Amino acid sequence: MTILVTGGAGYIGSHTCVELLQSGYEIIVLDNFSNSKPKSLKRVSEITGKSFKTYQIDLVNRNKLEDVFSQNKITAVIHFAGLKAVGESVQIPLEYYHNNLTGTINLCEMMRKYEVKKLVFSSSATVYGSTGDLPIAENSRLGATNPYGRTKLMIEEILRDLYESDHNWSIALLRYFNPIGAHSSGLIGEDPKGIPNNLMPFISQVAVGKLECLNIYGNDYSTKDGTGIRDYIHVVDLAIGHIRALENLENNNGIEAFNLGTGTGYSVLDLVNAFEKATGESIPYVMKERRPGDAAVCFADPTKAMEQLGFKATRSIEMMCEDTWRWQKTNPNGYTGNLELNRKDQATVL
Ligand code: NAD
Ligand code: UFG
Repeated sequence: MTILVTGGAGYIGSHTCVELLQSGYEIIVLDNFSNSKPKSLKRVSEITGKSFKTYQIDLVNRNKLEDVFSQNKITAVIHFAGLKAVGESVQIPLEYYHNNLTGTINLCEMMRKYEVKKLVFSSSATVYGSTGDLPIAENSRLGATNPYGRTKLMIEEILRDLYESDHNWSIALLRYFNPIGAHSSGLIGEDPKGIPNNLMPFISQVAVGKLECLNIYGNDYSTKDGTGIRDYIHVVDLAIGHIRALENLENNNGIEAFNLGTGTGYSVLDLVNAFEKATGESIPYVMKERRPGDAAVCFADPTKAMEQLGFKATRSIEMMCEDTWRWQKTNPNGYTGNLELNRKDQATVL
């Protein structure tokens, strides 16, 4: 079986490629490298000892996309490709709508033309907007609070319409909670452009000396220590969730949403403490105002994925921290390879 992985060079995509290859699937990667480097794919080959075809194509470019489908016999598609920064999406909404919506529509048109009707889509817990429910189940109220989130909600709706038009489609909408961590080899991991927006890459860049100090956004939430609570899931567990979703598509037509989370919430301070304990590095921090748009608490009800996909996240918060640190300290500048560090003694540059 050959799986087309769009956005396969990215953070979650590269980890999923490893799990696919190790599970015996053939893969084809499509990426425009707008937020990733080809080196991540070389590392995927290094980890797995397997090679695969890669197309440097923008999904928005329909003509080039057709080459991928006409030249290969594709069984199913895992669709990671998309822009994902919430703040940036507020600044450049049209680029987000164009890239994420047009890219997905082009992909689905090509899938329809070539009779490839199995699709796993990267959705997000962001589609729950400001639902008051906790834990958050798939049938909680939907509603996004920023353009990025709205692209995910709109794509979910487009895919539901597509299924209504043709019941031969099998589609899984995977709503990720907060993926962190890295492959245990330390060869692939998250490589954000510029200063990270998300908590874990920020913490690990403080630890490695690229950033001075963590800003904690809000210590006055009504949580146990006042800081925000999230459902962090190891990226390898998340990747395995995609394999379970693919297996499920083989036997079932329909369109279903699944939460991929652990069901456990950790506060910002919990994560800082777990990171310090797992790595022996200290993380200086200062308390700041709340970040606009942030929810106080967000964690998944993972029951549906457990019951229908047989998926359960097993990797602990300690492992998430250890694996992030292994990746960060051996690749302090991500896939780029050289950098200036504030604390030079702590880093080994590949
Ligand atoms: P990422 O940016 O590391 O990976 C996305 C990949 O898609 C990149 O390699 C990028 O170059 C590629 N891409 C973007 N637009 C493209 C286009 N038009 N054509 C071809 N390639 C394109 O992001 P990630 O963290 O791996 O996320 C993967 C998916 O999961 C995204 O759709 C994201 O919105 C979703 N998601 C991520 C998170 C998270 O916290 N990381 C949470 C929820 C959902
Ligand atoms: N935080 C800090 N300091 C930072 C970064 C984050 O205190 O420098 C806090 C936030 O306020 C929040 C928690 O850490 O309480 C987690 O923040 P992240 O930015 O890591 O994650 P979010 O939950 O805000 O958002 C992420 C993705 C979204 C996705 C959402 C749900 O960035 O794209 O998870 O999956 F929609």
